[in-house]
Amino acid sequence: MTIGSVQPPRVIGHRGAARLAPENTLAGLRKAKAEGATWVEFDIKLSADDVPIVMHDDTLERTTNGSGPVRMRTLAELTRLDAGSWWGPAFAGEPIPTLDAALDTLAALGLGANVELKPCPGCEAETGRVVGARLARAWPASLPPPLLSSFSPEALEAARLQAPALDRAVLVNDRCAEWEALAARVGAVAVHTWWGFITAELARDVLAAGYALRAYTVNDVAEARRLFALGVAGVFSDVPGWVGTA
Ligand code: G3P
Ligand code: MG
Repeated sequence: MTIGSVQPPRVIGHRGAARLAPENTLAGLRKAKAEGATWVEFDIKLSADDVPIVMHDDTLERTTNGSGPVRMRTLAELTRLDAGSWWGPAFAGEPIPTLDAALDTLAALGLGANVELKPCPGCEAETGRVVGARLARAWPASLPPPLLSSFSPEALEAARLQAPALDRAVLVNDRCAEWEALAARVGAVAVHTWWGFITAELARDVLAAGYALRAYTVNDVAEARRLFALGVAGVFSDVPGWVGTA
């Protein structure tokens, strides 16, 4: 069954290829491509001056040499940081990418993407609005349209207003029981959740309701096979080439 207007592959690189290169960096996108991935997932949030950047955490400590909340730093401050040294010396100096830089790299590599809206607290609607508008204007025409996703329905609603033609997916974890209401609220085509939540019953219900189901983060081939057998359309993997043998 075809669900949505774009069909991502069964294996999508998670945060680029997060076990093989520093997450959410251009080097990570290149690594995913080198591993054989055709799509990647990455996380987007806003700088203090409302520029979309590729970053997972709300604070800088774990994946950069900076400190404090991302939302307190301007783009100029963020782009001076090193987002690669924490991973290893080979990646020293790797910057926090802007969304625009990520789009250029995707276009150069021919990679499709699931863009996850990952708003800093209190910035849910603003993040959806800014990123939705940017994707509607600047998404590379050579690529398949992106799939937008978020744990924040507010962000997805705001993105929908700016980019109504793009497919959306709801991410659910602690709100797992609410998947159907959340998906309907944002006009989603898919439900994305943690692999450990996916039972035969959940998969049956999500598919019967007309949504595609995807799982994060799957780094084990046997687990990927279990999920695909249940009808899961795709998995996000830190090792996209390896799981691709599933
Ligand atoms: O989009 C799938 C997955 O990335 C969601 O969780 O925390 O890795 O962004 P997280
Ligand atoms: Mg993510």
